[in-house]
This record gives sequence, structure tokens and C-alpha cells, in this order.
Amino acid sequence: MEKLIIEGGKSLNGEVRISGAKNAALPLICATLLTPGKHILRNVPDLRDTRTMLRLLENLGVRHARKDDVLTIDSSDLNGSEASYDLVKTMRASVLVLGPLVARLGKARVSLPGGCAIGARPINFHITGLELLGVKCHLEGGYVDAAIDGRMQGNVIYFDMPSVTGTENLLMAAVQAEGTTVLKNAAREPEVGNLVDMLNGMGARIEGKGTDRLTIEGVESLQPADCAIIPDRIEAGTYLIAIAATGGEGTVTHCNPSHLPALLEKLRATGLKIEETDSTVTVRQPNGNGQSGPLKGTDIKTLPYPGYPTDLQAQFMALMTLSSGVSVINETIFENRFMHVAELQRLGAEIQVDGHTAVVKGAAMDGLSGARVMATDLRASSSLVIAGLAASGRTEISRIYHLERGYENLVDKLTALGATVWKEQD
Ligand code: EPZ
Repeated sequence: MEKLIIEGGKSLNGEVRISGAKNAALPLICATLLTPGKHILRNVPDLRDTRTMLRLLENLGVRHARKDDVLTIDSSDLNGSEASYDLVKTMRASVLVLGPLVARLGKARVSLPGGCAIGARPINFHITGLELLGVKCHLEGGYVDAAIDGRMQGNVIYFDMPSVTGTENLLMAAVQAEGTTVLKNAAREPEVGNLVDMLNGMGARIEGKGTDRLTIEGVESLQPADCAIIPDRIEAGTYLIAIAATGGEGTVTHCNPSHLPALLEKLRATGLKIEETDSTVTVRQPNGNGQSGPLKGTDIKTLPYPGYPTDLQAQFMALMTLSSGVSVINETIFENRFMHVAELQRLGAEIQVDGHTAVVKGAAMDGLSGARVMATDLRASSSLVIAGLAASGRTEISRIYHLERGYENLVDKLTALGATVWKEQD
């Protein structure tokens, strides 16, 4: 396995180009299963997770080719309907093949994802929703066997809580159902909106994009897609926080600031200066002249979009360990998303966890000092990178395969911003 070595204490400055969104690319790749033909997806990030998803589809007979950031996917010869445990256990987003496979073939056999570092990650909303559309779902041996004779029938589906992939799976299932389907309390994340745009571009009839109520008029057939992946708002937020944490000033480009409403307000609340254009965000230090003054302690509570994103909770916590005050961080989406706390404490952070709440006591004066730490999940890993960049001395992060799931060209992008960072065999 590889580890990441960081010589910390250097400020990050300059520009970094944001890649396509991992959490949009994954559902949109699955949507190509819905209809035969050559689909085009643009601005697709080349990540461990997108490669895993493409391997899954390859096992089902789908052909694909990449030229730079353009993916051509031909699902004409789809000849399989199973997503095996070996693949699904490494990437729970594999469950996103469930809806499209049942819609295209009338059947699917998908392994239950099982838990991951951040929580149990059940898929009961996905299954209940499919059953409301007329699909028979049988759970046995850690797999869900879904099947239907004929077309799905539209229905009203209410989510007990907004589920991003639950909304996406049922959108893909319902677009060719008989009649009207309404998804209530649906997820409003921009990645769901990207899928709505792709499906409507294929001939689907979905209304309510960006709201918690999606209405789908079933259509008889769909055309192959030609669709661009939206910028990765979580990657953009991660780099803004990294630049801020190291006392630098910088700009993320090719992003969509309107997808980061909560983060930008919270960064402003710490005293940082944030400037937006329609495709860039610039962050400057509180007193603006390049001097990194201590940041104000600021509270966050993670919520479904447009609330503060859970995928940027660990990164903000790393920033707050450097503030001059106390911050209360409340994680309401996942039951175990504080795995980064113990690792941040090894770097000198002062954090107390009580259930779903972490209290961070800033250590602005003496800051953090480098140490050996271990990545546990994708976003926790990025908070360790941020802390390592800000810490004095050397930080070594093991198990960085977690990082490579969601951050394209991480070492190149950090190096271009002025970081001293490289990979070594662990
Ligand atoms: C998506 O996961 C993202 N993954 C996650 O990003 C993100 O953290 C999460 O949404 C929340 O924003 C992808 O889009 C591929 P949920 P998802 O269903 O869809 C509960 C990353 O780092 N729930 O919105 O799996 C669930 O337990 C990843 O990129 C059920 O109870 O999350 C959680 O508490 C991590 N039953 C809440 O809903 C269900 O059937 C929200 O989960 C489904 C979900």
C-alpha cells in the first residue's frame, strides 16, 4: 500500500482547477444502462471509484472508452444483471445499478453494500421505492433479487429522510414506468439535478429539479445521452479549506460557487474573505494582506442539501483546530463520521467527542505538529491532508487508497499550490 508524505508549514497559494464531481459521475455512468446506444459523458473525473464503476459495467457487457475527460459508453450489448459482493463491498455506490437494470432488463441481483467506516449505510428506501413501482424484491444471502414482469407502474414514493442515491436509483427506475411517479422528500443535491438533466436530455420527462418533490411522467423509450458532469463541489470545498488552513490565498476554478452556499457562509463566519464569480471562488486571509491571522471558532451542523454538507465536515474540523476559539460540530447524517478525530488528535488537535457532537478547541498559537496517521475513509483522509499541510514538520498518511477514490491528481494539484507532498510505498 502507498502512503502520502507531507512536509507541512508552507502556505498554499495560486489557482487549482476543479474536476468533475465523483458523486455525479457515478449515477450518470449507471444511467447509460437505461437504453442501448453510444452515450457521451464529458468532464468525467478519472478516479478509483469511476474506474470501479466502469469495471462493474464491463462485467455486464458494457463497452467504454475514455479520451481525456470524455467517456463514451456503449450499453447496447448489456448481457448481465448481477453486481457481486466483491465489487459492491468496495464501493456502495454500486447499488446505483439496481434501478437501471430492473428498468432495462426487468431483473437485477445486487449485493447489499454492507456497512462502511462512516455508518451502516442501509438501502431500505431504495427497495421500498422499487416495490411501490411494482418490483418484487427478495433479500437472501446478502443479495437483493429484484424482478418485474412487464413495465413498472408509477406511484407516490415518500422518503423518510432525503437519500441521495435513493432518489437517484428511483429516478432511473421511474423514467420509463407506466404513468406518473412522484418522489416526495427527495434529495436536492446538485448531483441529483445533474442526473435529472441527463435523463431529460435522453427524452425523460422529469419536473422539480432542485426541489424536494420530483414528478416523473413515464415515457416509452429513451435516446443515448450526451451530458457534462457538474464540477465537484466537495473537491472545491476541500481545496478552499486547505488554502485557508495553511494561511494562503488562492482560487478554485472551473467550479460552481452556487453549489456551496453553506460552506462559503461558514468560511466567511471564521473571518476569511471569500470572493465568487460564476465559475471561481477566491479565499483570502482575514486581514487580507497575506498574513494568516487566527480564525474565529465557528459551529457547523451537517444537513441534507442546501444545508452544510456532511462530506465537508471532517475538512472543516481540521480548519477549526487552528482557530482561536471553540467550535461545535454536529454530524446529523451519518452515525460514525468522526473517525478522523483520533488521527487529528495525534497531530495535536484538541477535540472532545460526545455522540454526534464534537467540540474543537482551537490551538491557533502553537498550531499542529506532524505525525504518522492513518486514513479511514475518503473525506476523513482529506482532513488529515489539510491538517498535515498546516502542521509543522512531517506527516505521513497511510492507506491513501481512500483518498484516490475521490480526489483526481491530488499530489499534482497540491504541489502546484506550493505544497511539499509525495507518495511512497508504505
Ligand atoms: C451519498 O451517499 C454520497 N455518495 C455520500 O458521499 C454523501 O455523504 C451522502 O450522499 C450524503 O450527502 C454518493 O453520492 C455516491 P444517503 P448515500 O442515502 O446516497 C440513510 C463521499 O464521501 N439512509 O443520502 O449513500 C443513511 O444511513 C460519500 O463521496 C437510510 O436509512 O447517502 C444516511 O443516514 C460518502 N436508508 C442518510 O439516509 C436508505 O435506504 C443519508 O444517506 C438510504 C439512506
